[in-house]
Amino acid sequence: MRKNIVAGNWKMNTNLEEGILLAKEINALVAKGINDPKTGVIIAPPFTHLHAINQVIDNDKICLASQNCATDEKGAFTGEVSVKILKSVGVKAVILGHSERRSYYGEVNETLLKKLNIVLENEMKPIFCCGEVLAEREASKHFKVVKEQIENVLFSLSAEVFKKVVIAYEPVWAIGTGKTASSEQAQEMHAFIRTLIAEKYGSEVALDITILYGGSCKASNAKELFSKPDVDGGLIGGASLVADEFMGIVNAF
Ligand code: PGA
Repeated sequence: MRKNIVAGNWKMNTNLEEGILLAKEINALVAKGINDPKTGVIIAPPFTHLHAINQVIDNDKICLASQNCATDEKGAFTGEVSVKILKSVGVKAVILGHSERRSYYGEVNETLLKKLNIVLENEMKPIFCCGEVLAEREASKHFKVVKEQIENVLFSLSAEVFKKVVIAYEPVWAIGTGKTASSEQAQEMHAFIRTLIAEKYGSEVALDITILYGGSCKASNAKELFSKPDVDGGLIGGASLVADEFMGIVNAF
């Protein structure tokens, strides 16, 4: 049966000292015990903090993730960080295709496909983001957009490899805006994504895939969102920067 996951995407926030402190606070709260011990906790701090944070967390209870990775394993790629480098500092999961990467850094399907393959080849977990912008939702194109994002990248994988992927549905209009998708809107899209997977890989695979919701998810609305049958947790931005708030979301299960 699929796992519930709450992942904190710190984005470009916290200096090193603040980041270590936040990681220590989350670690202490996780150590005290969480409501549903089967819920996976992931944190994705900035690149520069990963090594130090890996030393202060219990790696059996908190999975360290990066917010991005390079398309190649090594070489002359100034400013890039490869999965090999990330793996060497304890990173086990990589967020891919976040809408901020797609819109500000021009990440297209071809780039994401390369990153996806390199992450999987290195036995790390990809957290693949998809989601529509407001104009697309208003034009009722949201299902089509999400379908294309998933089909054009993830559906190139074999069923065996696809099973290792976590999907995060993040309606772009809800990211950092304080506007959350209603739990019905989230459920509707998550169920749609699961149906797409069932059609491609069969229902057994579809039932096993963790699908996270992202976009202004916080402790006060997580319970309602996570109560939906196809919402298996969250990818949390702003609310992951305060330990108590983040743990409130983890404990919403
Ligand atoms: P938010 O960000 O929780 O701040 O809306 C979500 C995300 O971008 O992952």
